[in-house]
Amino acid sequence: MIKITTAAEETREVITEWKRQGLSVGFVPTMGFLHEGHKSLIDKAAKDNDRVAVSVFVNPMQFSPNEDLDKYPRDFAADTKLCEESGADLIFHPTPEELYPDGFCSFVDMTGPTAELCGKSRPIHFRGVCTVVNKLFNIIQPDRAYFGQKDAQQLAVIRRMVKDLNMPVEVIGCPIIREADGLAKSSRNKYLSEDERKAALILSKTIFMGEKMLKNGEKSISALLEAMRKNIEAEPLAKIDYVDAVDADSIRKIDAVQGRVLVAIAVYIGKTRLIDNFIFEA
Ligand code: PAF
Repeated sequence: MIKITTAAEETREVITEWKRQGLSVGFVPTMGFLHEGHKSLIDKAAKDNDRVAVSVFVNPMQFSPNEDLDKYPRDFAADTKLCEESGADLIFHPTPEELYPDGFCSFVDMTGPTAELCGKSRPIHFRGVCTVVNKLFNIIQPDRAYFGQKDAQQLAVIRRMVKDLNMPVEVIGCPIIREADGLAKSSRNKYLSEDERKAALILSKTIFMGEKMLKNGEKSISALLEAMRKNIEAEPLAKIDYVDAVDADSIRKIDAVQGRVLVAIAVYIGKTRLIDNFIFEA
């Protein structure tokens, strides 16, 4: 039976016992409402490690007041089932008060890779992500931690934080998992009405189109981004937040196709903000 903990202290005790036995620990941090994208991370963690811990915590610190914290989808029973089926050993499911008790006032902040893409439209987001991931790493003390490539900027930010702060964790990025029709799996897909679900396909279609352009030899970043923008603008239910190209590691803007190019988009379909991306190795 999978073990469920809500207290940091108890979680530490479980992990300390695993470590005492010489077992390696893989960690998958999540905000719950798990889907096949998360399952692929847990499966990989189970393959690579003796024990797997998953955290399920909708982190208030990474949501701005105008965002979807209150209506963010939750289904802990389904999450538990998926974790069990994927071979996880522990779910850490804390309350906000457990992680942010009265008087909490320490944060992990980052410049550099947080300046572009989602960092522009969600200014406090990465401070919340870095702070909670740092706390979760301290509690779980994993050997390896698994993050999806769908949140490509988040992955680059976590890699940078681990490097900058000498955290003894190996960060492993895992591929984007898509629905059969191409839409990237996301807990937020749940918000989409039937018409919006159809319209949301414009994201993956645009990503595939952009990838094809670079594979076919397109050398101009501005021509690439212009073509991608036009494609999205043709969908009446879509509103662009950003369509951009950056260096995949530093998340700095680029104006030439060189190195590892991250092409990323964020698009509102109705009120739901969805993201997608691809990496092109020039
Ligand atoms: O990617 C997510 O679900 C969250 O940003 C994370 C990493 C669990 C931190 O809250």
